[in-house]
Parts: sequence; C-alpha cells; structure tokens
Amino acid sequence: MKPQSSPRILLVCLGNICRSPTAHGVLEHRLNEAALDVFVDSAGTAAYHVGNPPDHRATAAAQRRGIRLDHLRARQVATDDFERFDLVLAMDRENLEDLLALCPIEHRGKVRLFQEFAGERAVLREVPDPYYGGDDGFEQVLDLVEVATEGLIEHLRRECP
Ligand code: 4NP
Repeated sequence: MKPQSSPRILLVCLGNICRSPTAHGVLEHRLNEAALDVFVDSAGTAAYHVGNPPDHRATAAAQRRGIRLDHLRARQVATDDFERFDLVLAMDRENLEDLLALCPIEHRGKVRLFQEFAGERAVLREVPDPYYGGDDGFEQVLDLVEVATEGLIEHLRRECP
C-alpha cells in the first residue's frame, strides 16, 4: 500500500508577488497554529518576477496582521506541479484558465478557484489583482484570503483527518 503523505497545496496568481504569496503566508501561519502537516507552495502563471521577493506592499500589509512573507521568492508554474500537488488553487478566473490550458487532462480536477473554499462566507469569487492599485487593495486581498484559508483548513480537516 502507498504510504500516506501530507497533502500538498499550490497557490497561484499571475506574478507570484502579491496575491499567491499572501495566501501562502496566511495558509502556512494558520496551518502552523492548527498543527496540521500540509506542504504549501505558491507560483505565478507569468515569469515577470521570478526570483523576486513579494511586493513590499503585500509584505507590509501581511506584517500588520502578524504574517511574514519575506522568506518567499517568486517562481513560475511548471507542468510537473500538476502531478506534484493535490490542489492547485487559482486566485482569479484568468489564472484558472491559464492553469487549465497547461494542465494534463488527468489532473484537471485538482485545479480550482481558491475562493471556492470561502463557501457561504465568500464576498467575491475571485481575489482581485492589487498590483496597479492602492494599499486598500492589499488589505482586501488579506480579508479575502483569510476567509478562504479558514474554509480550506476545515476542508483539510474533513478530507485528511
Ligand atoms: P499578483 O499581482 O499576480 O497578485 O502577483 C501582479 C504582480 C505583477 C504584475 C501583475 C499582477 N505585473 O504585471 O507585473
């Protein structure tokens, strides 16, 4: 029998410097508090910022809520991510479409919108791109990510007890 390994979750946005690293930092923080063993990573559909740390506005907004992002570095999604991860969660519908275009057919069921996990508590179905806006966009990203993260942790407790 195959040994049970911890679940693996990949969080994806366009640049991997604003939304997905924010979700990465928040999810890691909450998993740690919940003492759940889950591997988390994040990536971008585009390569513009590969190797860069998160946007300083995302890092500052997360820091105000006690979440560190400064250990993260951007990378681009690779085809083998669809095999290596159990869930590949997109921040918006455009990211979802781009992921589905790359994803081998047998792994398509792993590719979903992150905000699905907010369930009834969802304010929006997507996490809007804050890159060209003001600081309030980064606060909104955190608000949305925190609610979806709670739902994702409930899902993990149910599915991977
Ligand atoms: P992210 O935000 O997808 O949340 O990381 C963006 C970061 C950079 C760019 C667009 C969105 N950009 O065009 O460089």
